[in-house]
Amino acid sequence: MIDFKKEIANKLKEITNMETIEEYIEVPANKEMGDYSLPCFKLAKEMKKAPPVIANDLKEKLEISEEIVTSIEVVNGYLNFYINPLTLANTIFTEMDTKKESYGSSKIAEGKNVVIDYSSPNIAKPFHIGHLRSTVIGSALYKIYSFLGYNVTGINHLGDYGTQFGKLIEGYKRWGNEYDVENNPIDELTKIYIRINNLCKEDEAVLEECRNNFKKLEDGDAYCNELWQKFRDLSLKEFQKVYDLLDVQFDSWNGEAFYSDKMGEVVDLLEKSGKLIESEGAKVIDLTEKEMPPCLIIKSNGSTTYATRDLAAILYRARTYNFDKALYVTSYEQILHFKQVFEVAKLLGLDTKYTDNLIHVPFGMVQLKTGKMSTREGNIIKLEELLEEAMERAANIIEEKNPSLENKEEIAKKVGIGAVIFNDLYNSRIKDEIFDWDTMLNFNGETGPYLQYTYVRTNSVLEKACGVPEVETVDTSLITDSASIALLKALYSFGEVVKQAADKNEPYLISRYLIEIAHLFSTFYTENKIISEDTQLQNARVYVTYCVNTVLKTGASLLGIKMPEKM
Ligand code: ARG
Repeated sequence: MIDFKKEIANKLKEITNMETIEEYIEVPANKEMGDYSLPCFKLAKEMKKAPPVIANDLKEKLEISEEIVTSIEVVNGYLNFYINPLTLANTIFTEMDTKKESYGSSKIAEGKNVVIDYSSPNIAKPFHIGHLRSTVIGSALYKIYSFLGYNVTGINHLGDYGTQFGKLIEGYKRWGNEYDVENNPIDELTKIYIRINNLCKEDEAVLEECRNNFKKLEDGDAYCNELWQKFRDLSLKEFQKVYDLLDVQFDSWNGEAFYSDKMGEVVDLLEKSGKLIESEGAKVIDLTEKEMPPCLIIKSNGSTTYATRDLAAILYRARTYNFDKALYVTSYEQILHFKQVFEVAKLLGLDTKYTDNLIHVPFGMVQLKTGKMSTREGNIIKLEELLEEAMERAANIIEEKNPSLENKEEIAKKVGIGAVIFNDLYNSRIKDEIFDWDTMLNFNGETGPYLQYTYVRTNSVLEKACGVPEVETVDTSLITDSASIALLKALYSFGEVVKQAADKNEPYLISRYLIEIAHLFSTFYTENKIISEDTQLQNARVYVTYCVNTVLKTGASLLGIKMPEKM
């Protein structure tokens, strides 16, 4: 595909001898400022001239082919470039014809490895809405990075380790047969946990038993390990229902327990660094200099911590995956934890290639519009139920709008789940998410269903046109109206938007972009008669529609949203 920005930059480079001039070229937010703009005040210092003078000078000296840029304007200190729409249409169409659903993908990151730690719920505890966010954001990042050619490893760092398992084993030993753990593992194990915890508070001897169980578990005792395995398997079976509904996958399920025999090395390395100090019987790394509380490595009772296991995981991931980036997707409540862990990781003797590329990807909380959602036990929502409810509500809407639709159930699933995912990815991660059924399922709002609905509209245009014309037969010079050109410009930037989403670890950039495409398509559709007697004109417009169709579907798939063909 022709890189307009590069073409302009190269010409500017020739006359200014500034190697980095491309970095100054912007895409103006205001469309009246051209397609690309060079703010000349950024050159003023170096060139020792006033920005408007520089702009005029450059304009005079520049010789850019008409095929790339049709006009250059000086507005105050800005040099504004208008690209050739015909070339734009040609390059998009050719690219679309060769790449099809991989239009926008690239190989820029080939040979690079990224590991993404996401979802990571805790065994025998409810999979809560925060884990849903982690799952949805992490899975989108997985797809986005893959699309850019990265070799991605998705890790579910399960919370399957810790003293609470000693308690759970004790509780199960005592009352296991009173609870239907097989059929309803999370709920029942939670009940057992609460009960044994209460007993521990009353009776120190029981607490001692629990500690013993954990010790036995660590030492490989057969019975304790069998129970632990059972809790883990049953929990995963239940979590899997949510993963299936969301169609989310992982390459590794190595949770915290996987590191139980790998923490000794962490402690040794930290000892060797001379930074591991005793504090009230515990071993910690002092982080006063970094203005953080100390990082607890070994508790006073000798047990390791969540942080110690994360340090072991960093060692393991560096060695196993040789990562160029390691991402951790959790709520912002863990910002301090990761800051501490990443700081301490510098003491493990790893290459800075690894320690400089540990990235926490935090996100905000979910705010519920109370009373509107089926909640159990206060504010703990069962995610499986939540997703079921989304599908049910979508089914009701479809039943109302289009009762004769075929495959209604399958479509309701795509719409319901798509609505939840889109809602999760519509704002910058760190913002709190508002969870409101009516908003997210509104077919006319900035929602998942709206994107799906737009996609379906493009489908019916293609159907009416009896398919997509051969690209060679399309006369791009017929596309001249501003609605079409605005749409083409947006289609052109898809690949760039995906790159930015990866750079910032912000899937919402893609969500917003897709909404923009949908809006632009809607204008294009109202202002242009697509199906007409004029076959040539029809072909050109159908091809634009085909490009929208593909970008919407591919873009949605990067977010984890599936498009129904009809709805
Ligand atoms: N299990 C943790 C929780 O539920 C999240 C784990 C995140 N990943 C990590 N490597 N610490 O809060």
